[in-house]
Amino acid sequence: MSIYAEEAELYDIAFDWDLSEEAAWLVERLGPDCRSVLEPGCGSGRMLAALAALGLDVVGIDSSEQMLALARGRGCDVFRADMTGFDLGKRFDGAVSVVSTVGVLGREGLGSHLEAMARHLEPGARYLVQQGVYSDGAELWRSEWEAERNGTKLYIVWEAIDRERSRSRVEILAGPRAGEVVEDEHVAAFWTVDSWRQVISASRFTQVACYDEGAEADLDRGGMLLWHELVAP
Ligand SMILES: C[S@@+](CC[C@H](N)C(=O)[O-])C[C@H]1O[C@@H](n2cnc3c(N)ncnc32)[C@H](O)[C@@H]1O
Repeated sequence: MSIYAEEAELYDIAFDWDLSEEAAWLVERLGPDCRSVLEPGCGSGRMLAALAALGLDVVGIDSSEQMLALARGRGCDVFRADMTGFDLGKRFDGAVSVVSTVGVLGREGLGSHLEAMARHLEPGARYLVQQGVYSDGAELWRSEWEAERNGTKLYIVWEAIDRERSRSRVEILAGPRAGEVVEDEHVAAFWTVDSWRQVISASRFTQVACYDEGAEADLDRGGMLLWHELVAP
């Protein structure tokens, strides 16, 4: 079962933590002139809703109807579209991509995604992309956590299989589906520091900064959840 489609509701519970601080930090990075924001691969709309709560006009796209239905339930303006080639017929003041979402496109998909994004952003607009890049010898990543909502309690393990794929295992500990286990594998590309620099320099974007846990960081050191600040042409 796909955690991004048939089991999108479980994804939404698993990732439903408070994003208000991260959203406020993103608004600062997007700059004072940013009024409209696009989130490609917006999933269930959790970041869109957090940005809208701070007064921004937000639009999301995603390929999963189930994710889009959850985002609409949060009051978000969302469309079904492929991140690697889409045309919304308008430009935005800024954009964000959360939790290594561009990794789902694989290495080959990022270039065409950036080209589509360049066509949807005003010149000089910021595109903030959260994506892991690794330095030589870095270990494969693994996360485990618990989440609970309305009586449904989950234990989640999300881990890299290699540098191209990840697997998720969601054990339902309590609630109407208690005892079920939902497992899935996904494309989840990670870049080396060098291959990330190459893909950005082959695009029309310029990377001006990199952040780790809110502080400016050295891209050369890599990191699992780095934020890359890209500037649109
Ligand atoms: C890791 S999830 C992140 C969702 C959301 N950004 C969040 O923070 O919760 C990746 C999302 O990308 C979507 N997706 C995968 N491939 C896509 C594509 N080619 N075009 C648009 N969305 C895609 C999936 O449906 C899923 O909702």
